[in-house]
Amino acid sequence: MSADARLVVISNRVAVPKARGAAGAQGGLAGALHSALKNRQGLWFGWSGKQSESGRTGNISTQTSDDVTTATIDLSERDIEEYYNGYANSTLWPLFHYRLDLAKFERETGKGYERVNERFAELVAPLIEPDDVVWVHDYHLVPLGERLRSRGCKNRIGFFLHIPWPATRLFVSLPYHERLVRTMLHYDLVGFQTQEWLDSFLHYCREELGADVDEESGSVTLDGRTTIARAYPIGIDWEHFSKLGEKGEARQAQQRLMSSTRRRTAMIGVDRLDYSKGLPERLDGISRFFDKHPERVRDLVFVQIAPPSREDVESYQVIRATLEQKTGQINGARSEVDVVPVRYVNRGYTHEELFGFFRAAKIGLVTPLRDGMNLVAKEYIAAQDPEDPGVLILSQFAGAAAQLPDAVMVNPHSPDDLAHAIRVALDMPLEERKERHEKLIGTVRDDNVQNWTETFLRDLDNVPH
Ligand code: G6P
Repeated sequence: MSADARLVVISNRVAVPKARGAAGAQGGLAGALHSALKNRQGLWFGWSGKQSESGRTGNISTQTSDDVTTATIDLSERDIEEYYNGYANSTLWPLFHYRLDLAKFERETGKGYERVNERFAELVAPLIEPDDVVWVHDYHLVPLGERLRSRGCKNRIGFFLHIPWPATRLFVSLPYHERLVRTMLHYDLVGFQTQEWLDSFLHYCREELGADVDEESGSVTLDGRTTIARAYPIGIDWEHFSKLGEKGEARQAQQRLMSSTRRRTAMIGVDRLDYSKGLPERLDGISRFFDKHPERVRDLVFVQIAPPSREDVESYQVIRATLEQKTGQINGARSEVDVVPVRYVNRGYTHEELFGFFRAAKIGLVTPLRDGMNLVAKEYIAAQDPEDPGVLILSQFAGAAAQLPDAVMVNPHSPDDLAHAIRVALDMPLEERKERHEKLIGTVRDDNVQNWTETFLRDLDNVPH
């Protein structure tokens, strides 16, 4: 990209800088993109998160702050239902996270998804200037590049998928899967979080579309067009995050958790309340740990921060009820008058507060059943005191596992495995904690979000166009 080419980011959610704290802290995408746009005088287009009062989708509202211009639109009730709650979060999200049992396949929501993508293209196209580089994000907007092309947009357009790409045998359960993937081949560059998701995508293109695939370069050629597909593991904003510990709000939060747990070790989980995060399975593992070591209820307190998410989608209502029940069961069975083993908190916190909580917690539990990357794992590592670091327990099914092999790796489906990992973490000597942390922190520091952005955009500028 030439130094002065403007960057146009298009994503479903647009985090207006002010909104970054409590609401934004748990979603990885928003913070990462804000860093990418700063200093490039970028434009960020997407949904405001609000329902339009006029009942229609449209009307762009812009605001510039912190060198980033955001242009947002409200969506109609029907569009929210069919596109966001429907096809994006009841079809693609569960399917891409290997939850075929939860995926709904409805023709109407599929049409709504296409309609909103078309509307996005119609509204954003006039804002794109000839030299701009366009970067589209995530599963909500897969067909957007093709929609922009059909309106004559000749810019370089890249796409990044923040969630996993499923194995071919699973993906073909999606009606019209071919149509969806063919639209992706209108991007110049398509990025995935890990080599595993990339391999699944290339496999699909070769086996199902009959495309000419070169694994080495990641080029996919079909009908005379070539798209490059590569893996770009996302990182955290290291510069910003690692300094949060100096802030009063972070220190207070650390103190608050430490003084309330006293001599007990705090173990923490921070996740959007989502079935992909493996929260009931995590509680089953904790329950198994207390079954095996009942005396250790005085050694360990588990704090689960889980802000509710996508509350209009039924499967999210179900997971919430399940967690309330399981937390109640463990606490009912294991509490003493002065000891409650699980603290379950349904709200979000600022990044400063999370830093403080991470630092106070000597075990970080990140055990999704499937996850594109998982930035909480990286933030937990970044918040540790190098002289007395906590232990990260990480699911082998998180994208982050490929990058963080020095975490204590677990199979989140196995309560025994989880219980064992908790015991190992609880009793890990300082020397081993320091050794592991030193290796982990190197990766988190070096593979940061600035590198991610620069690498993706540099490749986007260099791929054949
Ligand atoms: C994941 C997705 C993001 C999404 C975030 C929060 O990280 O990859 O695209 O923004 O979850 O979900 P929400 O539905 O609240 O935007």
